[in-house]
Amino acid sequence: MTVKIAIIGAGHMGRVHAQNLRRDDRVQIVAIGDIVPANAEKAAAEYQCAACTSLDDIFAHKPDAVYVTTPNALHLEPVIAALDRGIHVFSEKPMATDLREARQILDEVERTGLIYQIGFNRRFALVYKFAKDRIAQGFVPLSANVKMNRGELLNPPWVGNTALTGGFLYESTIHLLDMIRWLMGEVVEVYCRAEANVYKELDDFSAILTFDSGHHAVFSSCAHSTWAFPFERIELYGEHAAIVTEEMEKVTYSPGLGQQILTHDCFQLSAAEKWGYVEEDRLFVDALMGEGFPPVKALDGYRAVELAEAMYRSAKSGKPVRLPLEA
Ligand SMILES: NC(=O)c1ccc[n+]([C@@H]2O[C@H](COP(=O)([O-])OP(=O)(O)OC[C@H]3O[C@@H](n4cnc5c(N)ncnc54)[C@H](O)[C@@H]3O)[C@@H](O)[C@H]2O)c1
Repeated sequence: MTVKIAIIGAGHMGRVHAQNLRRDDRVQIVAIGDIVPANAEKAAAEYQCAACTSLDDIFAHKPDAVYVTTPNALHLEPVIAALDRGIHVFSEKPMATDLREARQILDEVERTGLIYQIGFNRRFALVYKFAKDRIAQGFVPLSANVKMNRGELLNPPWVGNTALTGGFLYESTIHLLDMIRWLMGEVVEVYCRAEANVYKELDDFSAILTFDSGHHAVFSSCAHSTWAFPFERIELYGEHAAIVTEEMEKVTYSPGLGQQILTHDCFQLSAAEKWGYVEEDRLFVDALMGEGFPPVKALDGYRAVELAEAMYRSAKSGKPVRLPLEA
């Protein structure tokens, strides 16, 4: 049995997923759609499927599931249209760019009972899986220092347009907002300062996140750092123990005073593997085949949007913001 998959958005991420799906014998890519006909045609020729320029065209190919890989603010329409037709969805992050839209998707997923997976690929990146495993084995993160930068808001051009991104926090930053709640638990309060330094939108954030455990973490995010390392880093501190990730390249575990330090280096793995894309796509197809459940759920997508929204609200008001937020 094969599952028929269509991809909506033939840009960078549409191709990343298409490459993984092409290698999976259980998948037939039936169509690739893009609002720019040349993009759709080029990708369709490469992946030997139909080129489409509208949602109706895509749905005419009767996919069992769609990948939504359009710019951030353009996820809602294709996601809801697919769910309404009984089609399962993999959506790139963010789920949506405001809480009301995220709630609309969450409600629709719950109502239809269809599979919806959000593209928080870092949960399958080896460095973060290592951290999660250590926590499962007893490492307790008591505090943390988290950094998620972007080199620029220039490429692709729409990342500088808040009408399409929803704001910088909905870009790469949202990955580590999801990651820190995955590693340390639900966030109950956010206190955030932000400034617009290089771009016309808020592009420098410093926040203190408090978790339901009572522990807290420092979270910073800058949109204009260049791509020099470190742009993505988590330092988790336990009782005389630490886990430190460096990009998705390397993770270091210091289990205790006077003990040997372990390092895993992912340098030689392909980007698609070390960034977690291969595994997230395989697990989505597993779920479509009835061989498992989607590993990152609609509620995770919603909580990450809520956290980004809480950071914006706190930055605007200058006051701590409690979560959950009223949708
Ligand atoms: N998980 C990750 O690591 C990761 C990395 C990069 C981007 N992303 C996310 O993936 C999504 C796509 O980003 P990208 O880097 O591939 O962007 P991109 O600009 O390379 O590709 C987006 C494509 O969507 C097309 N498009 C725009 N509006 C459309 C519409 N209404 N219908 C159909 N197609 C439309 C564009 O023409 C373009 O070809 C974004 O939500 C982004 O946040 C995720």
